[in-house]
Amino acid sequence: MELPYSEPYKIKVTEAIRTSTRAERETWIREAKYNLFKVRSEQVTIDLLTDSGTGSMSDRQWAAMMTGDESYAGASSYFRLKQVIENIFGMPYFLPTHQGRAAENVIFSALLKEGDIVPGNSHFDTTKGHIEFRRCSAPDCTIDAAADTQLEIPFKGEMDLNKLEKIFKENPREKIPCTVLTITNNTAGGQPVSMKNIRETAELCRRYRIPLLIDSARFAENAYFIKTREAGYADKTIKEIVREIYQYADIMTISAKKDGVVNMGGFVAMRSEELMRQAMQFSIMCEGYLTYGGMSGRDLDALAVGLDENTEFEQLDARIRQVKLLGDLLDEYGIPYQRPAGGHAIFLDAKKILTHVPKEQFIAQTLAVELYLEAGVRGVEIGSILADRDPVTHENRYPKLELLRLAIPRRVYTDNHIRVIAAACRNIFERREQITSGYRITFETPILRHFTVELEKI
Ligand code: F0G
Repeated sequence: MELPYSEPYKIKVTEAIRTSTRAERETWIREAKYNLFKVRSEQVTIDLLTDSGTGSMSDRQWAAMMTGDESYAGASSYFRLKQVIENIFGMPYFLPTHQGRAAENVIFSALLKEGDIVPGNSHFDTTKGHIEFRRCSAPDCTIDAAADTQLEIPFKGEMDLNKLEKIFKENPREKIPCTVLTITNNTAGGQPVSMKNIRETAELCRRYRIPLLIDSARFAENAYFIKTREAGYADKTIKEIVREIYQYADIMTISAKKDGVVNMGGFVAMRSEELMRQAMQFSIMCEGYLTYGGMSGRDLDALAVGLDENTEFEQLDARIRQVKLLGDLLDEYGIPYQRPAGGHAIFLDAKKILTHVPKEQFIAQTLAVELYLEAGVRGVEIGSILADRDPVTHENRYPKLELLRLAIPRRVYTDNHIRVIAAACRNIFERREQITSGYRITFETPILRHFTVELEKI
């Protein structure tokens, strides 16, 4: 018989999981004001809040940490990472930062002024936050198909070039300091962008002389989907595909906590020396000296190894297969999610599951709380709480989709954990008719409210 698939690694260290009763979870979630960010990790059985900084490092990464050079300036760890970034992305200049949003802060401080427009394909919430905080706007140019969760297309995270060109045509070039292309498109469901779309977005930007910034948190997963789904790339290595993607970029920001498989770190890289010189001062002010930028030497080394290892096909294949397993089980139970399965997560379509909860009562958040109560599984709402209020009208924004994201950390859970998650979803799905009310907000901040929001049950 043909041998079944198995992961390209074995496990050297384990961490115990605490289980709990439903009664305990009812108390804890009430104390946490129905905000899963406020629940303590030991009160969580399977933690799918994020795949950011939560992956397992390899033995080679741990070994590299011992070689970390903690010198304030000119550390050898910096030069090792610089070499890897040049090899993998072909970017000559880079500034380390402590995580992705810090990279956004550094580069947007250099690029943006009040009233500017920064179009993109579903900016991540911190990216949007950094843009709107500077009194600029972040119009969304994602393809409309991304909003139809049941439509199965291979590259559902793409930029709609007509929407983008309309913005370029209707505004003076000086008002558009850059375009942001996010790969994979996290907000739209971890959905990839094809090489064709990356190339065409870059060509359009060049034509209007607008720099292209690639938000690269899950660049390697995106490259995996190009290799496995786009004609002409099956025989190319992940590293070759990544190299091609970044030929089209002028700037990249990255949260290294995802595809760098480290617990903390990020950077901004660019081709222009002049831009690097403008950005430097913000790096020094907010992050640290140019050669460490908020990271320890050991973290720079762990990242150098992580980037190299996670741009190998076998690693990505194991990960994306596991996310797909969850999708396949949900298919078997008839539970709707953003199709096809994404790179880092499954996004349950809460509007299609909890059809009796009004949108004003936060449908996806209601589902998130249900899943926690059911099995101690912690996901994250990607819906109207995350969407914040409109900065001008201060009305709640209700996005087309109300999603519950179940993000799978890299190399952390086994397929048995995945089966538990799917079974918990099934139990909720079977009693969905009885769930008819949600939550109201009792406390919120004006920006990025989902982290600290407090709710009460209606
Ligand atoms: N861009 C994307 C596409 C992201 O997904 C994230 C973070 C960031 C930027 C910001 O990076 O967290 O290192 O400051 N996403 C995490 C998530 C938090 O759970 O999806 P950061």
